[in-house]
Amino acid sequence: MASTDITSFAEYLKGSRRIMALLGAGLSASSGLPTFRGAGGLWRSYDATELATPEAFEANPDLVWQFYSYRRHMALKAQPNRAHYALAELARRNKDFVTLSQNVDGLSQRANHPLDQLHLLHGNLFTVKCTSFYCNYSRANDFTDPIVPALAIPKNFPEPRPSSDDKTGEEASKSLDDAMKAGGERELDISDERVPLAPLSRDVLPQCPECKEGLLRPGVVWFGESLPTHTLDLVDEWMLEDRIDLMLVIGTSSRVYPAAGYVEKARSRGARVAVVNMDPVSMGSVRLTSSDWYFEGDAGVLVPEILRSVIGDI
Ligand code: OAD
Repeated sequence: MASTDITSFAEYLKGSRRIMALLGAGLSASSGLPTFRGAGGLWRSYDATELATPEAFEANPDLVWQFYSYRRHMALKAQPNRAHYALAELARRNKDFVTLSQNVDGLSQRANHPLDQLHLLHGNLFTVKCTSFYCNYSRANDFTDPIVPALAIPKNFPEPRPSSDDKTGEEASKSLDDAMKAGGERELDISDERVPLAPLSRDVLPQCPECKEGLLRPGVVWFGESLPTHTLDLVDEWMLEDRIDLMLVIGTSSRVYPAAGYVEKARSRGARVAVVNMDPVSMGSVRLTSSDWYFEGDAGVLVPEILRSVIGDI
């Protein structure tokens, strides 16, 4: 049975030098971004993981781009929460703290997490790359929203008021003006399948500016694809340098491999494990022992609290 005692964790944290963290979508849940397997894991009628494959992109590049364009938009509108800032602060204070993030939303980067201590296992929504086999084009830090005009989130305009006299146009534009002043124009939630989405032709989707033939795609790792080798090598090197004191597992269902496998790898290098999760049944492969900790609740609240003994108040 894992401990839930923050005091014993805080003591152990103070004496820990080599620390690793595995982050998942639950970290960004208190910033308002949906997780994959929790409530909100469905996008329209699709399981989010159905759209995250090379085959889905091949078959329906417009639908997959609409999904990712929406995720880019939501991630840009969201703000990093206190847990992102707390982890960034721990990284600044301890150069032996290494973070593996499965998140592609860019919130850790926007919380100024030191980039050399942040390893992105599943890529980044704001990198785009060419899908052509013959082209290596890729572009990082593309925060254009929408990335092409055709992928703009549709807006809901109020219906023009019908009029029986010759002032129809005037009336309609007045009603639109009034509605706009009152905040009447609003973005539609395209994750709701009742909002119609028009199919888009290939030529309005993001195109490769270099080879001018391939479509661009989001720079995230899709199911069936390999994780970035360079990143995995850096992590393995770090792990082999010395024993590991502590493994933090924050807001992840620990069901997707190889990411989830790092918990047991760290344990085999000596680490005690501390899990922060909203839901005790949703921890996949992580088996906790009596030398571990389990903190149940919102990462946005708990992470700054459990790290306070080292980072102070956030
Ligand atoms: P999941 O959606 O599988 O799991 C999110 C976890 O966060 C669950 O265990 C929730 O209980 C927990 N959670 C939800 N809200 C929380 C909160 N406010 N505070 C703390 N915990 C909370 O997301 P990931 O584990 O990140 O991969 O999923 C792993 C990978 O599967 C993703 O990177 C993505 C996905 O398919 C790719 O796209 C390749």
